Amino acid sequence: MIISQTLLEKYNKPVPRYTSYPPANFFKDNFSEKEYEMAIINSNNQKPNNISIYIHIPFCKKICHYCGCNNSNMRKSSEIRTYVDAIINEMKLCFSKLDKNRKISQIHYGGGTPNAIEVDYLKEINNFILSSFNTIENPEIAIECNPSLLNEKYIEGLMEAKFNRFSIGIQDFRPDVLKIINRDASYIPVKELISLLKYTNPKHSVNLDFIYGLPLQSIDSFAKTIEKAVDTKADRIVTFSYAHVPWVNKAQKILEKIGLPSEQDKINMFKSAHDILTSNNYDTIGLDHYALKTDSLSIAQKEKQLHRNFQGYCTRDTTGQVYAFGVSGITQLESAFIQNTKDIDEYIATINKKTFACSKGYILNNNETIIRNIIDQIMCNRFLNYSEFAELINIDRNLLDNFISPAIPQLRELAKDGIIEMNDKGIKVYDEHLLFIRNVAASFDPLLINTNKTFSKPV
Ligand SMILES: C[S@@+](CC[C@H](N)C(=O)[O-])C[C@H]1O[C@@H](n2cnc3c(N)ncnc32)[C@H](O)[C@@H]1O
Ligand code: SF4
Repeated sequence: MIISQTLLEKYNKPVPRYTSYPPANFFKDNFSEKEYEMAIINSNNQKPNNISIYIHIPFCKKICHYCGCNNSNMRKSSEIRTYVDAIINEMKLCFSKLDKNRKISQIHYGGGTPNAIEVDYLKEINNFILSSFNTIENPEIAIECNPSLLNEKYIEGLMEAKFNRFSIGIQDFRPDVLKIINRDASYIPVKELISLLKYTNPKHSVNLDFIYGLPLQSIDSFAKTIEKAVDTKADRIVTFSYAHVPWVNKAQKILEKIGLPSEQDKINMFKSAHDILTSNNYDTIGLDHYALKTDSLSIAQKEKQLHRNFQGYCTRDTTGQVYAFGVSGITQLESAFIQNTKDIDEYIATINKKTFACSKGYILNNNETIIRNIIDQIMCNRFLNYSEFAELINIDRNLLDNFISPAIPQLRELAKDGIIEMNDKGIKVYDEHLLFIRNVAASFDPLLINTNKTFSKPV
């Protein structure tokens, strides 16, 4: 991968990550319970018909200094029980409004640390979900795990709870890096851990998360970490750019004091990790995700069937409208986003009153839905063929021009800089310039005109 300094200076500017469109910082406050209820009811007649469920478990046994996720210190066991009860009660409220003929395609636990709570709670929640709806043939039942808390007994419990996808936060293999970010290493060596997670079924999928741009990391040491990751033969590997936002997360100031790698070093870490992964049988998915060539995401990308939501990438088969449960969870419907309150006690108290605990939301109009589809198509499949796309989303080809025309000047600039190929039929992002894919997507985003919102940089 070639990364030119001139292009970096021009394009490494704050731009949305586009895990959603509109980005979460455009959601509006005071979204009412009634609006949430109507959005759920309307979603029964919208696409995709499948149901995807997200459950947020905010608790962590130890808080990592870099963490930008919605986390909370561990609470005593009676409070965890109350939180799990609230999740099940929130599901009862929501499920009573969903069409029972719809099928579940995905269940995803995120955090915080879902495996910080007893595995029996996860079994209880999964049993409740799976007894409420039928599922598609091979639903994804996924969990984000902190490997320092995974032992043989817990893994046995995860199998009984029917999980089949595991995302493991490694971040770095170097003990000194882990120590400085306030994190423990994996309890079971990672290669062995992957074997255990696949023991009952080799088709189980394991993803490893890494972060570049942390204190003490060097280009060389991060390359060694990624070489070790490749050696585990994990199905998927993610290399996140460390998002440093100390004005949101004060603990990150600790890392700033120790000293962070320079922007140039960070770029070289990204580049060398990319080169190691792509020369070792991994395909790039989107910008910073990698999957073995045989993995369903690689196949979906080749067949232009890749999709994306807040939880990550998915294939067309497993895509559903997402209903989120627990604090800070974001429900992602065809025409609305709704985020729950981030306050654990307020969440429990509101659910106990048998009302939804939403705090923010956004109702998309028709034009915004089209822009979301365009951005999704670029972020996932790295190209936009205008006629094929118009047919895919069922709109008139001439009408699509209303959304393309405003982007043309910026696209011409990107084409002049060699980042995209552009002709009358559409655009394509060159593989060697994937780093700037967010800038390409941003060309189509009218919300960025005159906005005062802040975003992180691509690197
Ligand atoms: C909810 S956490 C993963 C689950 C589990 N809590 C753990 O720590 O292993 C999701 C992932 O977000 C990434 N992450 C968290 N904070 C980040 C930051 N400031 N910049 C970049 N990536 C971050 C980490 O790679 C982490 O594994
Ligand atoms: S990275 Fe995971 S374990 Fe660490 S604080 Fe964030 S959510 Fe908790």
